[in-house]
Amino acid sequence: MTALTLSTAGAATLRADAIVVGVAKGAKGPVVAPGAEAVDKAFDGKLGSVLEDLGVSGAEGEVTKLPAPSGLKAPVVLVVGLGPAPAKNGTYATEPLRRAAGAAARALSGRKKAAFALPVETAGDVEAVAEGALLGAYAFLAYQGGENSGKKGDNGPKLPLAEVTLVGTKPRDKAHKAAADRAIALAEEVNRARDLVNTPPNDLTPEAFAAVATAAGKENGIKVQVLDEKALAKGGYGGILGVGQGSVNPPRLVRLAYTHPKAEKTLALVGKGITYDSGGISLKPAGHNETMKCDMSGAAAVFATVIAAARLGLAVNVTGWLALAENMPSGSATRPGDVLRMYSGRTVEVLNTDAEGRLVLADALTRACEEKPDAIVDVATLTGAMVLALGNRTFGIMANDDAFRTTIHELAERAGEASWPMPLPADLRKGMDSPTADIANIGERMGGGLVAGVFLKEFVADGITWAHLDIAGPAFHEGAPYGYTPKGGTGSAIRTLVKLAESF
Ligand code: BES
Ligand code: MN
Ligand code: ZN
Repeated sequence: MTALTLSTAGAATLRADAIVVGVAKGAKGPVVAPGAEAVDKAFDGKLGSVLEDLGVSGAEGEVTKLPAPSGLKAPVVLVVGLGPAPAKNGTYATEPLRRAAGAAARALSGRKKAAFALPVETAGDVEAVAEGALLGAYAFLAYQGGENSGKKGDNGPKLPLAEVTLVGTKPRDKAHKAAADRAIALAEEVNRARDLVNTPPNDLTPEAFAAVATAAGKENGIKVQVLDEKALAKGGYGGILGVGQGSVNPPRLVRLAYTHPKAEKTLALVGKGITYDSGGISLKPAGHNETMKCDMSGAAAVFATVIAAARLGLAVNVTGWLALAENMPSGSATRPGDVLRMYSGRTVEVLNTDAEGRLVLADALTRACEEKPDAIVDVATLTGAMVLALGNRTFGIMANDDAFRTTIHELAERAGEASWPMPLPADLRKGMDSPTADIANIGERMGGGLVAGVFLKEFVADGITWAHLDIAGPAFHEGAPYGYTPKGGTGSAIRTLVKLAESF
């Protein structure tokens, strides 16, 4: 991954391929942001008017490259928009800094080294700029540009910016150093989750995912247990097995346990890990299945959060459950009308095999509850209905505890992730009444995201605080990249979950 260093050096003295400075959108035109003083000086104090003459506004995401005047040790000055300028004497919020750093890093792909001279007043700013740059520099190149690809050299994919130095920072200051270290650990794990989401489903099977988790667990001192299809059958995991039985790639349930000797609390995380969702016998139509390798984004988020907690040495126990299966149609697949006996002992009539996420999650939730954690959060690309409700960038939060839901919403905001609280209306339960089994896996069409949440609630033990994050919208980005968000897997919910673990 992109390397990140802090430096007390001024922007003018550091040798680099480009210097990044910020410009905000003021009431009377562009406002050069703090951090750019030395660069402005090299422009004879006229950087602001040069930008104004060029029509630069300072809008978020705007990127302008200028040839550097003499006096700077880099050939290019990259000016990135920060959005609205803060009120007089105000400071920049962290999310605009994170996004600007991301947009700049993305615009510098193919270069070796950049000096970032963005406004960094506090350790929180250092963290935001570092995180944004490392997340924005991300590229998934594992499947292109290889030998005989015809995409080599100038014709090949551009490598991510190799090295970022944040100038005007204090590498020997404890708070700055800790901020950079946290940003590096977090961004590396978010990027690792993105890699997993982007890996094509013919390579990332449940077994392959479990192997990745096992190896990473070993490397980070985390206990990993994997239940294979035999162990799942022995344990009575009818939900996970029912979803996975149509595929030649059998399902897995992975348990990752990070423990800290001084921990007083345990947070359990449960991730939906459908490595490919074809819909099963209730097959998805063409146009709705091309991106369904992303259906393991919840499990990737849980995996990344547990590893990040270990790397950061958080004084909390974090247990991660990855419910891994491939949802495929075949002669051995679950049929609409089949009844599954779940791990909890309850029976579920499967009326739609495309409502598979709630089946694998139900088993994992019941299992996670047996250990009586202080709270459980499940994360899932669960419903198209949540995307219709909240759009492509916002995840929904449901919970059996209003205060816990609010806490997660606020932590998400602070992490720079958009989310919104959603209800679990009790009246939606009766739509899932089944004449044959204890419950059906689908209910009313209206409020489908909430129906799924109400189904999951049935499998959470009484007295356990639980929240459900439906990340179907933000998990996978199909539009043009923006800020630090690339095309493809985004690593949604990880930064929020790490903040939640830290808050325990
Ligand atoms: N994995 C999908 C949900 C999804 C949709 C994720 C769009 C990402 C983007 C889920 O398994 C699914 O198919 N849900 C169905 C449920 C329905 C059958 C009750 C849906 O949302 O249509
Ligand atoms: Mn589905
Ligand atoms: Zn699914």
